[in-house]
Amino acid sequence: MRTPIIAGNWKLNKTIHEAVALIASLRCMVDGVSNVEIVVAPVFTALATSAEALAGGNIRLAAQDVFWEDNGAFTGEVSPRMLKDVGCDYVIIGHSERRQYFGETNENVNCKVKASHAHGLIPIICTGESLEQREAGRTEAVVKDHLLNGIAGLSAAQIISTVIAYEPVWAIGTGRNATPDQAQEVHALIRSLISDIYSDDVALKVRIQYGGSVKPDNAGALLAQPDVDGALVGTASWDAESFAQIIKAADNAF
Ligand code: 13P
Repeated sequence: MRTPIIAGNWKLNKTIHEAVALIASLRCMVDGVSNVEIVVAPVFTALATSAEALAGGNIRLAAQDVFWEDNGAFTGEVSPRMLKDVGCDYVIIGHSERRQYFGETNENVNCKVKASHAHGLIPIICTGESLEQREAGRTEAVVKDHLLNGIAGLSAAQIISTVIAYEPVWAIGTGRNATPDQAQEVHALIRSLISDIYSDDVALKVRIQYGGSVKPDNAGALLAQPDVDGALVGTASWDAESFAQIIKAADNAF
């Protein structure tokens, strides 16, 4: 019912040449996959060439961030309209690295989410607690805060075409993934919060990805959880072989 979505967040990696090479390898490896939505998120400078390299295939393009205004005196920013123009279908918003290093707030996230929808871009909204917050028993409160503020004001149709990512900060880039049970617990919470605001029917249509040290050897167990509808992959997506293995795990899991 929910098409699984596996997205590769390339973060601050890959020149244009490297991006094209990675896409070429990946396209060969996942050519026959039709039951999984596959997305890659290169850096801004590689988006245009990546769009050309992806043309006609089964892999979609995402940006790693966006600004909420269409144009104007906002030095250094890129608008949703420009991302659509370059060929993006998705945009990652509110990644913990942006919250941590660049001062991104829930309010910024909400503006970016609304502006993305206004231009037909699908937002992937990141939520997730730090280790300190988990140990203090605040996981539920933090995820709720990120989620409810991030999606505030969206219509039912907009939330259905929004992807939520649960990315516990302690699992990102650490090699220490959440266990399938830990992921399922938070994913079920996210779905029930969406259900409270909209309805069960709407909540059942929203895709919730897990992110944080997803690798070929743990992807199957994570994706087997009932409320885990895909993965947002960092490190393992920077290599065609390991990313393709995760995509194939999703193809087998659903
Ligand atoms: P890792 O897969 O490297 O832990 O990164 C996850 C992530 O931040 C994806 O957005």
